[in-house]
Amino acid sequence: MVRGASVARVAVEKITQLIGRLHAKQRIAAPVDKVVKVNLGCGMSVAPGWINIDGSLNAWVSTKPAWFHPLAYRLAGAKNFYPETFYCETLRDNEFVHHNLAYGVPLNDKSADFIYSSHFLEHLDRESGRRLLKECLRVLKPCGVLRIGVPDLGYAWEMYQSGDKEHMLHDYFFVEAEAGYSQHRYAYDYEMLSKTLIDIGFITVQRARFQQGDIPDLEILDNRGEYTLFVEARRPSDAPCESQETEVS
Ligand SMILES: C[S@@+](CC[C@H](N)C(=O)[O-])C[C@H]1O[C@@H](n2cnc3c(N)ncnc32)[C@H](O)[C@@H]1O
Repeated sequence: MVRGASVARVAVEKITQLIGRLHAKQRIAAPVDKVVKVNLGCGMSVAPGWINIDGSLNAWVSTKPAWFHPLAYRLAGAKNFYPETFYCETLRDNEFVHHNLAYGVPLNDKSADFIYSSHFLEHLDRESGRRLLKECLRVLKPCGVLRIGVPDLGYAWEMYQSGDKEHMLHDYFFVEAEAGYSQHRYAYDYEMLSKTLIDIGFITVQRARFQQGDIPDLEILDNRGEYTLFVEARRPSDAPCESQETEVS
């Protein structure tokens, strides 16, 4: 039974990657008359009015008619993770784009006001992660805000030092995960992530508090507050940028 489930999971993963490859060069036309908010590696953690981008089969299913969602729920393994009503309503009521973000962010230059990403960056290896952050800089409008949440390597190190070693390896490195989207490929502490963002060209890089910052809908989007490192940064602009939040000491 476990083997059957595991084979099905690998099959779903392979199909998803193939669909991603076929659309590697896609570009979404972001609206020009609205605030454009983009959620990268969204999973099912989404908020109304955002463009939610993910490489999972769920994101692809959401682009299909609503009658297909319950069928996909049963066939593709989503029933192991989410209640059916939540799954179907989330896919029906939100805008998803299926895209493998290792190929870049599928939006035009200077088209987004806000980019949010929670527990996704660590799924890319170091170079792919850096490329993705460069893509975020390209896609943001001047003064546009990027917010990244990742498992905090500093917190993991504290767990390790306190003797909680197995727990730390399990939570941070998904040691038993098969290759695919669920595997972690890199880890960041504040110093590493902020340095990378500054090197790439972001400004006002600062640590942010759980559910507080310059991005809308954080009370819906931020999760796993206890061990997540949140960092916000902006694309430089010729004009001064407005800010609402003060730095975490
Ligand atoms: C741990 S989940 C995080 C989901 C959500 N953002 C949250 O905070 O709960 C990681 C998500 O990243 C997506 N992902 C991983 N690698 C990806 C890639 N190369 N392209 C697009 N999405 C990817 C997975 O499909 C998954 O939905």
